[in-house]
Amino acid sequence: MANRPLQLTLNGQTVGPVDIPDDLPMIDYLHEYKNLTGSRLGCGQGICHACVVIVDNPDGTSEEVRTCITGAHYFEGKKVRTIEGHATRDEQGKVTELNPIQQRFVDEFAFQCSYCAPGFVNAATVLVEKLQRHPIVKSQLEKSSRIASAITSADAPDTCATTAPRAMC
Ligand code: FES
Repeated sequence: MANRPLQLTLNGQTVGPVDIPDDLPMIDYLHEYKNLTGSRLGCGQGICHACVVIVDNPDGTSEEVRTCITGAHYFEGKKVRTIEGHATRDEQGKVTELNPIQQRFVDEFAFQCSYCAPGFVNAATVLVEKLQRHPIVKSQLEKSSRIASAITSADAPDTCATTAPRAMC
């Protein structure tokens, strides 16, 4: 198995280049090379979304990518956010404040057992960012899941589907 160098931006920090195997899945890179274990390995088949990270595109859009079925080298040169990059931390690295979406999950008890929550928070973040770019009427947003209920607000105006941050509504 050949190795190739990988360099990317992880949670705002440039990392690498480091030689890693050609076929290393991104989730293994995050866990074994960066000790970022918040992205969870669930199904390993691209179905459950527990392993989702966020890729920030040069055009200002963001997208969710499943790291169990995507090789680490796909992320070469990309800007990636993992669950570890969401909260505000102090100088010792201790979390001092959750971001609005994380807090919303807590408030709405959307974590349940929490195993898949990192991927769902990332997926919800991408959805909220998309809604911020292209707002839709709140009633059009699917509200049948805990994720949707976590990011929709019971007291937000119908003209705005996003709640994180609520100030934009
Ligand atoms: S672990 Fe289930 S989609 Fe990646």
